[in-house]
Amino acid sequence: EKDGYDHFMLKEIFEQPHTIFDCLRGRLDVNAGTITMAGVQNHIDQIKNANRILIIACGTSWHAGLVAEYVFEELCRIPVEVEYASEFRYRNPIVNKGDVIIAISQSGETADTLVALESAKEKGATIFGVVNVVGSSIARISHAGAYTHAGPEIGVASTKAFTAQLAVLTMIALKVGHEKGTIDETRYRKLLKELEEVPEKVSAALKLNDHIKALAEKYKDARDFLFLGRGYNFPIALEGALKLKEISYIHAEGYPAAEMKHGPIALVDETLPVVFVATKDSYHEKIVSNIQEIKARKGKVLAVISENDEIIEKMADDVMIVPFADELVAPLISVIPLQLLAYYIGIAKGCDVDKPRNLAKSVTVE
Ligand code: M6R
Repeated sequence: EKDGYDHFMLKEIFEQPHTIFDCLRGRLDVNAGTITMAGVQNHIDQIKNANRILIIACGTSWHAGLVAEYVFEELCRIPVEVEYASEFRYRNPIVNKGDVIIAISQSGETADTLVALESAKEKGATIFGVVNVVGSSIARISHAGAYTHAGPEIGVASTKAFTAQLAVLTMIALKVGHEKGTIDETRYRKLLKELEEVPEKVSAALKLNDHIKALAEKYKDARDFLFLGRGYNFPIALEGALKLKEISYIHAEGYPAAEMKHGPIALVDETLPVVFVATKDSYHEKIVSNIQEIKARKGKVLAVISENDEIIEKMADDVMIVPFADELVAPLISVIPLQLLAYYIGIAKGCDVDKPRNLAKSVTVE
């Protein structure tokens, strides 16, 4: 059932061109310029007119929520707050009737998320589920939703479910923004096309496999890792750090690249690998200076960059080159090398990558 792969995690990483395609299929129609999502359509007025959107999730799903925050605010001009389910539920949160809550969960069974949703639902919020497992508890308590259709995810580390979450959330934001009139038609059409091109760009990114395997050998003995990104790629830095921690047991931290100078820069010396998620986007110039700050302190820089980025290529110790994509969909592609990096470092260290110690696939305890 691993289809010739050594582990479910690797199989699931390599499935992503297909799972993203399946997630877009039947929804995205580039020629017609439409996105068909019944769950969104049925609640369109409510979502469009929401005073704010709350996103509730844990772990990797929470990272997808952070990307969605940027995407929704940009395309729909609706304020978004992203909450850790466990923090949200215990602090007597303010939920108003008519608030729209987007719950993100691969398993649909995460206890913290489920209980947070139950109490918000009692307070009159509308729950919109972005869930992978059909018929799961979170899918059932949601008023509406959109499945991610990534198929069963067996590896404890979430990979293909994450990119499917990003695809679904981006489609929702595009649909709502278009209906609301907060995206101009040209940009809307351009982004539909960009989304359609994601599966083939993910395939291209997967060609980094052997290169990343070699990088894993080179960096596997590091004690700590720092992951930095800005804008849409900031949550991808967090995700890269989480993947590495859970799979290889190496201590890793993700930070917004500019926040580094407010503390974590103290960690930088010649033994610290710093992974930059630095694809070409509106933050590019800024992140180039952040890379300089690390190099000036002798940190080792590994950078995920777009094709033809000679500037960063010259500065970095190692690069992982991915196809260029609009910054709004770039996270779907820039996360791929980080998933592979975590996998191969885990393998190089002899870890049980499909079942890391102390972790369960779905966390059904509080
Ligand atoms: O099933 P969920 O998406 O609700 O799970 C949330 C987290 O437990 C999950 O993403 C966890 O962080 C993964 N092990 C990350 O790889």
